[in-house]
Amino acid sequence: MSIMFPMKGQIVFLLLLEFVWSATVTYTIPASAPTTATALDPAPLGISFEFFAFPSYFLNVTGTNQCLKNLKELTGTWPPIRIGGTTQDRATYDASSSAYVTYSVASPLDAPASLTFGPKFMDLASTYLGTVVMGLNRGHDDIANTIAAAKVASDKMSNLLAIELGNEPEYYTSDKQPIALNAGTWTPATDAESQDDWDIRVGSALHRNLIIQAGNSNDSPPKWGAVELIATENSTAKSYVHDYAHHNYPGGTLTTLMSHSNIVSNLAIFEPEVAAVSDEGKEYVLGETNSVSGGGAATVSPLFGAAVWTMDYMLRAAVLGIKRVYYHHGTVGKCFYCFWGRYSMGAPYYGAYAATAAMAGGSSIVSLDEGSTNYGGYIVSDRDGTPMRVLLLNSDFYGGGGSRGSQTFVLSGLTGGKSSAKRLSAPSANSRVDQGGNPSFGGQMFANGTCEVRGEEVWEMVDVVDGNGTFVVGASEALLVYLK
Ligand SMILES: *[C@@H]1O[C@H](CO)[C@@H](O)[C@H](O)[C@H]1NC(C)=O
Ligand SMILES: *[C@@H]1O[C@H](CO)[C@@H](O)[C@H](O)[C@H]1NC(C)=O
Ligand SMILES: *[C@@H]1O[C@H](CO)[C@@H](O)[C@H](O)[C@H]1NC(C)=O
Ligand SMILES: *[C@@H]1O[C@H](CO)[C@@H](O)[C@H](O)[C@H]1NC(C)=O
Repeated sequence: MSIMFPMKGQIVFLLLLEFVWSATVTYTIPASAPTTATALDPAPLGISFEFFAFPSYFLNVTGTNQCLKNLKELTGTWPPIRIGGTTQDRATYDASSSAYVTYSVASPLDAPASLTFGPKFMDLASTYLGTVVMGLNRGHDDIANTIAAAKVASDKMSNLLAIELGNEPEYYTSDKQPIALNAGTWTPATDAESQDDWDIRVGSALHRNLIIQAGNSNDSPPKWGAVELIATENSTAKSYVHDYAHHNYPGGTLTTLMSHSNIVSNLAIFEPEVAAVSDEGKEYVLGETNSVSGGGAATVSPLFGAAVWTMDYMLRAAVLGIKRVYYHHGTVGKCFYCFWGRYSMGAPYYGAYAATAAMAGGSSIVSLDEGSTNYGGYIVSDRDGTPMRVLLLNSDFYGGGGSRGSQTFVLSGLTGGKSSAKRLSAPSANSRVDQGGNPSFGGQMFANGTCEVRGEEVWEMVDVVDGNGTFVVGASEALLVYLK
């Protein structure tokens, strides 16, 4: 076409073309998922509930059931949950207690230093319609008490996926946990020896193979992690392990958290872990994770930029073969990263919802980019390998005020005359729901308190010309393109 221009015009045209092309990100959508695509779990996005707070979330927080149900409506599978955290290693099972949990705290916003729980705790967990990972105590070095609790869980819970024996054991020394004090020294090696021993003793007491979610460290691998742990396990210990879990809280500022390239490099540390676990024929999960440790950071975790992180982090984890990601929910009323609370929605829920919508019903996922810039995308394909959806994201930070930048994406290889898309957006990356900054996904929002979907769906239609479609994604936004 350019050869038809006169000399001068041609130069102008080529310069313009170069400018346009350098500013545009082009991805080719294959007719069929590549063989390198990663298999997806039916419900990869899960929720972790802090052990002592679990009964409150289900009995005293109105939105919990609906927030979980909204995700189930997308995938057909209730999101997996995990019950655990620091307070699992402070909890004692009391067979005679008629309470879910018993503890006393100086302020309702404190986590208890010790607590007991009764059989009803497991009754409540058994009512959940999705799978449950139950975190039990190893720190107290009271295996008889843990086996008693594990037996009640195993007997009552048909939804029990796995049991954890201890949470973040690398902190047992600083937490003055009896098991570390009794051992004298507490290192990755002594912890691994302890985990293997407990896996065998608890698994054999339950007469159940493949019942332990092992690992559960937060300190970075390879010092603490599956590679290190697997090397210490004999075949008896391995026979009781269902899967391996690690915890992860990337932290940082909102801008560094949401950056696509940072997400890709943050998660890359788990690649050898996933590979080692896969060699064992087992699954690898992020058993507890969220934006910033310790309940989150006020200036990061409740803001819409953390929703962009939640979404991208989930999809990137799935690409790496991390089967499930359990986003942690801590003390009710003191939890900046929580997806919902008693009175208000959290912006990150919108990212979780968009990620779940992107993967729903999908069989495999593949990344469209190398993770070297703020822009990226994913293709989710169905059982037959046909691409179903493309998620496009622009993780440039837009803090509000001034004009919002945008990134143009051209997708080639599309079929049909039009593509439809739903946008994940908010007034800015700094938007916070309880301060009036409602995000939306496909034009819809979630009601404070109840988590019910509000508003009509908004579909954006984009023309496809010769298999190409042009999509514009604003800074701190994402667009989910539905291909069929
Ligand atoms: C629910 O909240 C009420 C009132 O704050 C409290 O008395 C009760 O113990 C809570 N129940 C649970 C399971 O947290
Ligand atoms: C694995 O180690 C445990 C504890 O040391 C031992 O009881 C068990 O017999 C070992 N299993 C095998 C297959 O060697
Ligand atoms: C949630 O509550 C905040 C303030 O409390 C309000 O500004 C916002 O509009 C509410 N969101 C929805 C979706 O109703
Ligand atoms: C469609 O995209 C391909 C690949 O980027 C490009 O080569 C082709 O010129 C485009 N066609 C149109 C009509 O834009």
